[in-house]
Amino acid sequence: MQNKYTNLKIVENPIVNQSLCTIRAKDTDTQGVRLAARKLTRILLYEATKNLPQTETEVKTPLTKFRTKTINPNIKIIISPILRAGLIFTDEAVDILPQATIRHIGMYRDEKTLKPVWYYNKVPMPVDNPNNYYVYITDPMLATGNSLKEAIRLYTEKGIPQKNICGVCMISSPQGIEAIFEEFPDITIIVAAVDSHLNEKGYIVPGMGDAGDRIFNT
Ligand code: URA
Repeated sequence: MQNKYTNLKIVENPIVNQSLCTIRAKDTDTQGVRLAARKLTRILLYEATKNLPQTETEVKTPLTKFRTKTINPNIKIIISPILRAGLIFTDEAVDILPQATIRHIGMYRDEKTLKPVWYYNKVPMPVDNPNNYYVYITDPMLATGNSLKEAIRLYTEKGIPQKNICGVCMISSPQGIEAIFEEFPDITIIVAAVDSHLNEKGYIVPGMGDAGDRIFNT
């Protein structure tokens, strides 16, 4: 896809492409899907977190002390997996960002309306200084964009600036991306692939099928 959006980053490298081939293939078993998906999520999270503010600190190596950069320890980092498939990002996320808070968001898609239905919300936290928050909402499939929009709204309604919020997805549809940027033009979206279209049931084509089913063997 030609990328006409400044805030859309399509991450492309050989490991990403190989992992995508593995998760897409219908004959890859659950363990294979999970391993490849985890590899992919780690790379996507590295890309997503490039916006984290850094600060200078002093480090003593065995040889000397010197000043260098690190993630600003005063910011608050939130990882928000959209249940259930978004959970695939959390193991890698807590490994690379041990200081992050995980705030789960439970939504499923009504099969008929394709609209999200809420069943769990771990985001009712007070927000003291909204500019200090950096939020990564994870969902492997950005299809209609309805769930991601609901999730983003939870944070923007608390005053957290759009520029501090990032949707991290593995595969997206062009419609989903358009829907997000229409309402939230300053959000960042990180994806590994933008596929051709959505089918009449709201599945991404070619996609990987139902990500939750493939990851959790249901
Ligand atoms: N959710 C999925 O798991 N797969 C799709 O293709 C679309 C939404």
